[in-house]
Amino acid sequence: MQQPLYELRGLTVRHVAAGRAAALEQIDLRLAAGEQVAVIGPSGAGKTTLLSTLACNHRPAAGVFSAFGTDPWALDNRTRHQLRARLFLAPQTPPLPPRQRVVTAVLAARLPQWSLWRAAASLFKPADPEAAFRALARFNLGDKLYSRVDRLSGGERQRCALARMLLSEAQVLLVDEPLSALDPALSQLTLTTLQQEAARRQAALVCSLHQVDLALAHFPRIVAMKQGRIAFDLPRAQVTDAMIAELYRDEMPPANAPQTEPPAIVAGATCL
Ligand SMILES: Nc1ncnc2c1ncn2[C@@H]1O[C@H](COP(=O)(O)OP(=O)(O)O)[C@@H](O)[C@H]1O
Ligand SMILES: [Mg+2]
Repeated sequence: MQQPLYELRGLTVRHVAAGRAAALEQIDLRLAAGEQVAVIGPSGAGKTTLLSTLACNHRPAAGVFSAFGTDPWALDNRTRHQLRARLFLAPQTPPLPPRQRVVTAVLAARLPQWSLWRAAASLFKPADPEAAFRALARFNLGDKLYSRVDRLSGGERQRCALARMLLSEAQVLLVDEPLSALDPALSQLTLTTLQQEAARRQAALVCSLHQVDLALAHFPRIVAMKQGRIAFDLPRAQVTDAMIAELYRDEMPPANAPQTEPPAIVAGATCL
């Protein structure tokens, strides 16, 4: 593997409000530029925490964490902020200002590239509405260009955040459950658009997904999480139905998960 974008070794992450309980434990993960990875696992497994840790939002409690060849938590705040501009996290519920127009929310991705004057002016008159329209149209949302953010459905808000991601210059695209509110056709469109964009800019794409069938159909590498640990990290061809059944054993099967359970064991895989 080439020089990794990320290297995590023995990583532990705790949420402040959760006391001593760790949300992530003993995480080992390497991720190279251009890789496309799906993160799967039951609710509470740690998928969201892993994505926001990769976004440098959680200071690890223990272990090694390196992003872009450096430890972000050894940097001063300003330098860490500059490093964060090289990645983009699209949370499941994007914190977009509710009264803002979609066009302004999407163009906010360009703020780090603009002067203060241009950024302030764009609040009154959007600087490049055509670019915002093109990004929205790729997610079938072109007609919402001048809608207010609080008039969008949950799924539209999330795609609005993904359109914003297209206008960023991020080299790491971190996307948390982008399909939760989408029908099958829009789910396909959304994943295909994200993957094409990641490939075009040779960015790494890490996408948490509840839909196991789509994860396996679209992503060459599958990272499965359970109870804060990595249950397996494998090329999709090595993921068996039995592993998926074991992963989701304690919860209802996820949407469209394979129902068969052949007891196949794959060498090198650890399945909790
Ligand atoms: N802000 C938070 N404060 C305290 N505990 C949290 C917080 N966010 C998540 N957790 C806990 O961390 C664990 C992992 O959660 P999360 O990363 O959201 O899992 P997933 O995305 O797989 O559902 C869970 O036990 C969850 O309850
Ligand atoms: Mg989550």
